[in-house]
Amino acid sequence: MRIILLVALTALAGCALGQHDHGVRSRFFNQPVDHFNPFDRRNFDQRFLENSEFFQDGGPIYIYLTVGERFFGVYDTFITSGLVYDIAEETNGLLIAIEHRYFGVSRPTVDTSFQNLQWLNIHQTLADVARFIAHLKENRPGAENSRVILWGRGYGGSLAIWARQKYPHLIDGAWGSSAVLDATVEYPQALANAYTTVNNIGGPECAAVIRGAFEMIDEAFMEGNTSYVQERLRLCYDLDSGNVYDLARLDYSIALESYLFIQNARYPEIDEKCIIMTGLNTPDDPPLNPLDGFARWYIDDLQPNRDCFDYSNDAVTAQYTDPTWDSISTIDGRRQKLWLRCTQLGAFTTSEEGSDHPYGRRFDIRFFRRWCADAFGFETFTDPWFMQDFIGLTNEHFGGLNPKVYRILITQGEMDPLRTLSPLEDLNSQARVIVINLESFSRDMGSVSEVQDYPHLIEVKGIIREEILRWIQASEQEQPTPPPPTTTPPPIEPGRE
Ligand SMILES: *[C@@H]1O[C@H](CO)[C@@H](O)[C@H](O)[C@H]1NC(C)=O
Repeated sequence: MRIILLVALTALAGCALGQHDHGVRSRFFNQPVDHFNPFDRRNFDQRFLENSEFFQDGGPIYIYLTVGERFFGVYDTFITSGLVYDIAEETNGLLIAIEHRYFGVSRPTVDTSFQNLQWLNIHQTLADVARFIAHLKENRPGAENSRVILWGRGYGGSLAIWARQKYPHLIDGAWGSSAVLDATVEYPQALANAYTTVNNIGGPECAAVIRGAFEMIDEAFMEGNTSYVQERLRLCYDLDSGNVYDLARLDYSIALESYLFIQNARYPEIDEKCIIMTGLNTPDDPPLNPLDGFARWYIDDLQPNRDCFDYSNDAVTAQYTDPTWDSISTIDGRRQKLWLRCTQLGAFTTSEEGSDHPYGRRFDIRFFRRWCADAFGFETFTDPWFMQDFIGLTNEHFGGLNPKVYRILITQGEMDPLRTLSPLEDLNSQARVIVINLESFSRDMGSVSEVQDYPHLIEVKGIIREEILRWIQASEQEQPTPPPPTTTPPPIEPGRE
């Protein structure tokens, strides 16, 4: 077997990696486009980053899984600082980050057309990881007996856990920070969770502003007079209250941004923004109405530098339709991420009449099916059974909220609206789940010693470290598979088989 490692073009790596002096190298590993069809001989170069400053013979290998982004190099942060970096130092480990196929410069196909996206799926991605590890252990001096620990955030964390589940002979443990395991088509709970967080932290007055703002938008739609909405939300297109997809897109876009804010906020930030929305910081100039209050946060504070916003459905969909590499659709991976959602991950934050949150009620599943169909030019996405069947396979293959998996750890932030797509209690004594109080998405990446952290977060980081060290130790103590018997088996007599 051979391993093809191309030393990276320094031009690519240089700018992004220059700020550190940890010897991080950007390299490439040759992978088949299709792991499951030996007749398909095409291959591509998958990018990875490597930091070997601590590595000594037999030390563990820590692999960070992530979808790449335009600047994959930023992920050197995760292999040059933080919790796992510290653990690698303590254990003489090797640190690696692998770029997900179809993201960044890891491009298996000439473009991302519908036909060419068929190799973008979880199984091919996990096979990339497995093959990478097998070759690394075989070819890297000192790595043949190394234990392998995977980790990641969000979907990267899901991949880490699924990889451990699928390839336990190659992977000794996996930590998924804010990993989600339940692949469900519709996930309205995310918005209800976000709203509950605002209500609990910012208080009912703040939640009422959000509710009131969406009610005003809805009334404007129904009356057919959207001039105030248009002006206060700084829209740069003519809102057509006869176009259901435009109305759905507007509600969805605003709801999504508010929800993403909560997903990434630190606890005090929610309070700060609520003070802006309710006007407590401007007693002489209180908000004129709920929409004004909401816009003081959403427009004036959150996105002050944008001239205006185009949420028309055609304009937004157009940002996902260009299959060429380096286009607006692909450069940050938004088309690829949408593909993963439309075909395997789902979790569309739907909203309809009777939904348990106030973020509008116009983006039901038909809106998302239309989006998938338009983005990929494949009308079958609009069939009600289609996404259900395909996305359902993910849980069928990995067990959804009840996977049979050991030596894994899932950590969730109590404020993360996606946390309920993960088990929230231990799966078994070797598959623990920890929900971190008053924290949002993946706040547990940093060193244990970060001083600004709340005590519970510091405590959880200590547990993450202990778990990882325990997996390595347990794995090293496992009896190796006995070698095959050396005695020659008796020859098979011809004709007796
Ligand atoms: C639309 O609403 C705005 C302000 O909310 C109001 O000034 C305007 O007169 C209304 N236009 C019509 C045609 O009702």
